[in-house]
Amino acid sequence: MTVVDSAPPVTGTALVEEDRHRFRVHRSTMTSPEVYQLELDRVFGHSWLYVGHDSEVPEPGDYVRRPVGGRPVFMVRAVKSGEIRVFHNSCTHRGAVVCRQESGNAKVFQCFYHAWSFDTEGALVGVPGRDAYGDGLDFSALGLRPVARVASYRGFVFASFDPHIVDLVEYLAGAAEYLDLVADAAGDAEIIKGTNEYAVDANWKLLAENSIDGYHAAPTHDTYFKYLVSLGTDLTGGVDGVGRSLGNGHAVIEYRAPWGRPVAKWEPMFGAEAREEIERLRADLVERYGEQRAQRMSETNRNLLIYPNLIVNDIMAVTVRTFMPLSADRMTVTAWELARRDELPQLRQRRLDSFLTFLGPGGFATPDDIEALESCQQGFRSGGVEWNDISRGMSREPRADDEEQMRAFWRRWNEQMTGGPR
Ligand code: FES
Ligand SMILES: [Fe+2]
Repeated sequence: MTVVDSAPPVTGTALVEEDRHRFRVHRSTMTSPEVYQLELDRVFGHSWLYVGHDSEVPEPGDYVRRPVGGRPVFMVRAVKSGEIRVFHNSCTHRGAVVCRQESGNAKVFQCFYHAWSFDTEGALVGVPGRDAYGDGLDFSALGLRPVARVASYRGFVFASFDPHIVDLVEYLAGAAEYLDLVADAAGDAEIIKGTNEYAVDANWKLLAENSIDGYHAAPTHDTYFKYLVSLGTDLTGGVDGVGRSLGNGHAVIEYRAPWGRPVAKWEPMFGAEAREEIERLRADLVERYGEQRAQRMSETNRNLLIYPNLIVNDIMAVTVRTFMPLSADRMTVTAWELARRDELPQLRQRRLDSFLTFLGPGGFATPDDIEALESCQQGFRSGGVEWNDISRGMSREPRADDEEQMRAFWRRWNEQMTGGPR
């Protein structure tokens, strides 16, 4: 990691404070427009950011466009090389967005403004009235600009605007092991077509916290737990597990929970007819990965935060979720579902039901979470209280309902914001 020489702190006072028993975060981190502007550069400008999954662009010429780190980019599978490219979505002529559809297949991207066109490697291949430029202009230097770094891990494609950032695997640190668990369990995995998109009137870091917060599950999602009970699920075991910092701001909670998992843990909500099939999937995992790893894959849940803004929830379905701030108090959220490609239609149906029942924007969990996040943001406006307390579990081995995961996120955030190692 490179050390930035002397980047000034955000304000004269520390925004994240920690001693042996207390960890607190100043609320201006979530309300201040200056902090938001600074984090666009220091956090989003110097991290590996999730762009998409390689299964979204299986064929040469397939593309998707995305806002990544708040900037419009697009990812395309190049026609000749078959490699995935990620370009800044801006015409090198005078700026217009070149890729204007959410997704599709193209051999050439033609800018609608003056019709310059670029191939899937980014080369400028068409300029109407080219002779007007004479021989002096070097058109080969006017190709689309690739984003500084692109790399993928187990099908997850990331990009960074920082050419000097550490390699992706080094950046992922302990999070790589968890992506392996998800990817191994999913086998030949694909992102299922269809995207959930919604906006939340809250600071983006509240969702980073919420996604790895075991403490809120019982009070906030009471309705869902009652629903599970009504379907015959036994809740007496509760939610039980550990919280871990995985290095570089990444964190996870890994726990047992009462719901079923389409990967291989049957529960009544999946229906009696699914039981045999889910047991067969489990036997298959045991054969491939041994009893211990198979048990971890099928029985335990993982909510994984890959710093700063990718969540992989491996719970009653596998969701891949990313979010971007629009301002200090508003963000957009995009979520997809990941599943094995060869999944039987009945199991796929149950997975989709399970996904939408809990996690969809109209499900039992997401609206509750959004309400909680927006409620925090409203509470911040009340003033009078300057700090959020995030000390839970500091004096013991961290559990899934402690706050060590959030502390891991905030420590890295603070390090980046105050000009520490990038
Ligand atoms: S801005 Fe794209 S061709 Fe002019
Ligand atoms: Fe929640």
